[in-house]
Amino acid sequence: MSATLESSVPMSRDRHDGSSEPSQHALIELRDVAKVYKLEEVEVRALDGVDLTMHRGDYSALIGPSGSGKSTLMNTLGCLDRPTRGSYRLDGIEVVNMSADQRAKIRNAQIGFVFQNFNLLARTSALENVELPMLYGKRMSAHARYDRAKELLTLVGLGDRLDHHPGQLSGGQQQRVAIARALATDPSILMGDEPTGNLDSRTSREVIEMFRQLNEVKGLTVILVTHDLSVAKNARRNIVLRDGKIIADTRDHEAAAEALRSSSD
Ligand SMILES: Nc1ncnc2c1ncn2[C@@H]1O[C@H](COP(=O)(O)OP(=O)(O)OP(=O)(O)O)[C@@H](O)[C@H]1O
Ligand SMILES: [Mg+2]
Repeated sequence: MSATLESSVPMSRDRHDGSSEPSQHALIELRDVAKVYKLEEVEVRALDGVDLTMHRGDYSALIGPSGSGKSTLMNTLGCLDRPTRGSYRLDGIEVVNMSADQRAKIRNAQIGFVFQNFNLLARTSALENVELPMLYGKRMSAHARYDRAKELLTLVGLGDRLDHHPGQLSGGQQQRVAIARALATDPSILMGDEPTGNLDSRTSREVIEMFRQLNEVKGLTVILVTHDLSVAKNARRNIVLRDGKIIADTRDHEAAAEALRSSSD
């Protein structure tokens, strides 16, 4: 089954169509963001003065050596974690000083996550896995939940696997269930930390193609962390981190690869 988008599931809200009025503000705006971990005597600057602006419809890959701050940046962007310093405006709203509850709300409204190890519930069907996020947040009838989950699984090419449990699906299929689940709440941003890290190269390409189509066809803003330069190449923008700083931010994949190489010298 190829990873083409199979149906025209409405991704509602005109913000997805990319053709509406330009918004007043960037979707993501980080200013001088730092994250410092203090462990006994040692201070780790996981993020060290990061400025970053992303607009709706961007497709960015965060790359950099191990420990350079990619996951910390992703967790900050995903409102899972709070910086030590700086400002983060998500869709024009400052989130740094929000409570955990407020951040959870904004996260549920705006962001879908995909993880390296899929994080699906084991003895639960693909359909129920995708329905799960719809039990929280805005109220939906059981019927509407079922219909949307079925549509989303069809969208990712799994319309014939609704009742399969994760253990009865291949790695690539499990990741596609996870993508459908991430889309259940109709987010504007899809984020993944090493979403192809557990997949072989062919399956990885298939999943990456799906991210690209969700970006190009559905207008989703996509942000991926990856070690894999072929995955980064699929993104339109490459952001290279080193020691918690952005050392390159470019649409030229070769320039990003070069920055990465020189950073590991
Ligand atoms: N909870 C924590 N407590 C202390 N230090 C941490 C914590 N989380 C991360 N760090 C440190 O912050 C730095 C950045 O970590 P991060 O996980 O963001 O790196 P990464 O680029 O995602 O690496 P990898 O490619 O290995 O996943 C590392 O030096 C790490 O040791
Ligand atoms: Mg990481």
